[in-house]
Amino acid sequence: TTTVRVSPAALGFTAIAHSLEDIAVVPAGYSVTVMTRLGDPLAAGVAAYANDGTDDNFAQRIGDHGDALHFFGLSAAGSRDDSSSTRGLMVQNHENLSVDYLHPSGPTNVSTGPRPADEAKKEIEAHGVSVSEYADSGDRTWAYVQSSSFNRRITPMTPMAFHGPAAGSAMLVTAYSNNGTAGRGTINNCANGISGWATNLTCEENWAGYFRRDASDAALRTGNELRALARYGVSSKTGNYAWSTVASTEAMFQKWNATITGASAAADYRYEPNQYGWVVEIDPYDPTSTPRKRTALGRCGHEGAFVRVVAGQKVGVYMGDDSRGEYLYKYVSNTAFDSADASASDRLGVGDKYLDNGTLYVAKFNADGTGQWLQLVYGSVPSLPATGTYPEYVFADQADVLVNTRLAADALGATPMDRPEWTAGNPVTGEIYLTLTNSNASKRPLNGTDAANPRHYGDPNLSGSTSYGNPNGHIIRLREDGDTTDATTFKWDIYLFGADATDYPSDANVNVSGLTTSNDFSSPDGLYFSRDTNPAGQINPVLWIETDDGAMTDRTNCMLLAALPGNVGDGGATTLTNKDKDGNTATQATFAGTAATAANLRRFLVGPVECEITGIDMTPDGRTLFVGIQHPGENGDAAAPSSHWPDSQAGTAAATVRPRSAIIAITKDDGGIIGL
Ligand code: FEO
Ligand code: CA
Ligand code: CA
Ligand code: CA
Repeated sequence: TTTVRVSPAALGFTAIAHSLEDIAVVPAGYSVTVMTRLGDPLAAGVAAYANDGTDDNFAQRIGDHGDALHFFGLSAAGSRDDSSSTRGLMVQNHENLSVDYLHPSGPTNVSTGPRPADEAKKEIEAHGVSVSEYADSGDRTWAYVQSSSFNRRITPMTPMAFHGPAAGSAMLVTAYSNNGTAGRGTINNCANGISGWATNLTCEENWAGYFRRDASDAALRTGNELRALARYGVSSKTGNYAWSTVASTEAMFQKWNATITGASAAADYRYEPNQYGWVVEIDPYDPTSTPRKRTALGRCGHEGAFVRVVAGQKVGVYMGDDSRGEYLYKYVSNTAFDSADASASDRLGVGDKYLDNGTLYVAKFNADGTGQWLQLVYGSVPSLPATGTYPEYVFADQADVLVNTRLAADALGATPMDRPEWTAGNPVTGEIYLTLTNSNASKRPLNGTDAANPRHYGDPNLSGSTSYGNPNGHIIRLREDGDTTDATTFKWDIYLFGADATDYPSDANVNVSGLTTSNDFSSPDGLYFSRDTNPAGQINPVLWIETDDGAMTDRTNCMLLAALPGNVGDGGATTLTNKDKDGNTATQATFAGTAATAANLRRFLVGPVECEITGIDMTPDGRTLFVGIQHPGENGDAAAPSSHWPDSQAGTAAATVRPRSAIIAITKDDGGIIGL
């Protein structure tokens, strides 16, 4: 294919307004095609989704809460073709459930159990990852291929292999794997990463809540184990959806009970929580391959894993840990990238080379606009002092540092951030962007701000403890010193601050970026740069920002914005005057990017009712944009659905129709590049 370069790119669509409609709204001149939806069958002979709660067999259907996605090209002959823009494999995460819509009259005893086995099995299998073939039969008529031999579901029961320094650790031993090298499944798959060798990295985010620990468990644990369980939040007495309360000895249900019950770790699931919280590599082109959990990348609430691959440089992977007060991580391979590996056929073997042997770092943001990567290496990580009832935590080995990444990062003094979500890299400059979706007054009080998390203010649409802090979030970015992936120092600034321009039309301490109603937003989450194979990805690449908001949803549903972002250091220094709920004020110096304008930031899409916009990719030619619409109508239930999307996209849905998460394909009616 011919590469067309334009310089510089300019946004070429008219910004759309706030919307509370139950449809996906796109600019004039664009069209929406609904692609794979919750429940769509992924094999010949599987019945169409009835969408009335009677469907089962989610191991052969599209899962719920579609999250991150990526289009892996296929040639007409059905083999890997990175340049194909008309046929490919859509790999999508299925993070969680809108459980009220999955059963005829909602779930039975979902909070505390006992759960019926058939309901729990359906819910378990609706999690994980899907691979589905997409094809454009000409003139932008996209459809998915139900009977493709590439179609696959990876669920919380799919066999997995552990790789890297923690594989074989006693901390990973379970009844599934008496030597700690294997396990089953993946869960709460949120954002993703794409390697430079055509594999998909799926990230395990809020896995901790699925596990149950009975009151009897605490007395049976060591002090170090209790400290780690508390740090990661494995504390539920039932686990999400109470799956382990099913009256069955089947491991599918019992593995969610992490209570010590057996004679040894090999006899129960006490360490099953240690098998989650990883980045997992999947080969989308080989439906029989076993996914590999890459322990060298650490264990946390992995949001995403942006992979920066530059020939001759070490592979860099940038990863947010999504909770308030968590950290930004970077993994660097030991070996520099050999371009020949980009097209190797043993893709997971290439993954072994670059993702099993390397160094994990955590970020420290300094008040002067510089930053450091602190290495999480056994021997250089100090112990954690004793606190409360916990004894001093002395790391035992590198496996301990990786299984308990958060504790090691605490010990190093990393910078707690306002909920680190997606990472994305500018394909031209290599600058790395990170969404910090929001924080609140308990995690970011007036006197707890720092230069990298500098704002404290109130949102009039929220109440209680969440109304003050940084309710609309911001986007920080960094440039590695020397522009190399293995740099241990960097420069940073804040690219953009979210704000509600109706509440704060001109307050420079809150609406720092000068947003207007045509580009205001709250709680940035998904981040994506247009691929550098299309003109929107070159010279002045387009950055796409997705929102997962609770603070502005009285004005508008969640959205996707397009931006031309500039560079680190564009805006210089500024000082914010912060104000807490009692009217106290304090100042905080920071580094703000250039102001948003109608030319460099525009709203491109607004989704249907109660959805989150998450998951995004383009075809290599830039002429189709795929976007995930997650959990429309998430606050409704089977008796009273609060959204009817995607059926409502055509304007004709009945009031009883249940909503479904789905991917949409957006094309330009003139066949042009999306966004330009
Ligand atoms: Fe799954 Fe942090 O969003
Ligand atoms: Ca997310
Ligand atoms: Ca979010
Ligand atoms: Ca979500």
